[in-house]
Amino acid sequence: MKAFLTGGTGFVGGHLAERLRAEGWRVYALARRTSNTDVLEDCGCDLVRGDLDSDRLLRRAIEGADAVFHLAGVTKALTEDVFMQVNGEGTRRVVSAARQARFKGRFVHLSSLAAAGPARRGRPLTENRRPRPVSVYGRSKLAGEKHVLRAKRSLDCTILRPGAIYGPREHEILEAVKLINRLGLSLEFAETRVQMTHVDDIVSGIVAAATSPHAGGKTFFLNDQEVWDYAHVVDEIGAALGRTVRHVKVPLAGAWAVAGTLDLAGKIAGKPLSPIGRDKVREVAAGSWIADSSALTRATRWEARIQFGEGIRDTVEWYQENGWL
Ligand SMILES: NC(=O)c1ccc[n+]([C@@H]2O[C@H](COP(=O)([O-])OP(=O)(O)OC[C@H]3O[C@@H](n4cnc5c(N)ncnc54)[C@H](OP(=O)(O)O)[C@@H]3O)[C@@H](O)[C@H]2O)c1
Repeated sequence: MKAFLTGGTGFVGGHLAERLRAEGWRVYALARRTSNTDVLEDCGCDLVRGDLDSDRLLRRAIEGADAVFHLAGVTKALTEDVFMQVNGEGTRRVVSAARQARFKGRFVHLSSLAAAGPARRGRPLTENRRPRPVSVYGRSKLAGEKHVLRAKRSLDCTILRPGAIYGPREHEILEAVKLINRLGLSLEFAETRVQMTHVDDIVSGIVAAATSPHAGGKTFFLNDQEVWDYAHVVDEIGAALGRTVRHVKVPLAGAWAVAGTLDLAGKIAGKPLSPIGRDKVREVAAGSWIADSSALTRATRWEARIQFGEGIRDTVEWYQENGWL
């Protein structure tokens, strides 16, 4: 089986590349000149040098593939234009290349729970609720989904919407882990509930979506079913680090001011400096980020297997062993 993969130089894509190679796939992975390709090279992927603007290259790479995994995207950006350009327009270009290549396999698009928006009144979202994104990131991921859905008649596609993903090589939750590790502190400005899904479970879900006959033409949430208060997540991280955590409540206005300063510092530096910006504060303050993934389980038999306490212990150990903390 041959796969074309975008985003393989990132956190989730690197893990997917490793899994596909371990299962015997030949993997053609898109990589930019500036990308870190260590993981892809170590697991024996073939590199396709270019980016999401390289129309002809994308078409050629997709020709002859059995599956396309489109994971490339930005989760933080300085402007709405960048979010839309990569997550919206970039997805349109990959879809268009697949159509031009007369691709007949499964096209798996990794969207996000942010495209659907938060759950209100504490009930997990299901796929039939109309999307109501609250962040620019969420709107850009929804724009990407729409490009995929527009091609649905001629493209066998599956859209997956994970929430928070953690695991070795993850670089955003890492910032919270570092703060707890150094100061034993967690800064909290809203009560929110989340599902934390280990990257190995996410990868299993992506592969199941690509290979199951019942997953085509559908959109699925892809999350561990267990729901956590954010404060409890932080306590588990503390336990993994062997630290007691002090929960410091920050007023929303304070979080908004700090996030604005970080956004401004990013603009001056010319690149986002922190995963926490106003767009992220908007998401965290908007409610709970929980969704029901049982439709994916019914279609593919996928189930999350790694319990958060155990998964975060392994992740923290990985950060420690690899000098990330
Ligand atoms: N991590 C999460 O918790 C989470 C949750 C829900 C959904 N998602 C979605 O999952 C996907 C992967 O996320 P991640 O956490 O693995 O992100 P990541 O580590 O930041 O990786 C992003 C990937 O996208 C690539 N990329 C960005 N802009 C590109 C462009 N213009 N052309 C080609 N490639 C480009 C990056 O390439 P370079 O290496 O060259 O920068 C990298 O390979 C994203 O679509 C994200 O929206 C992630």
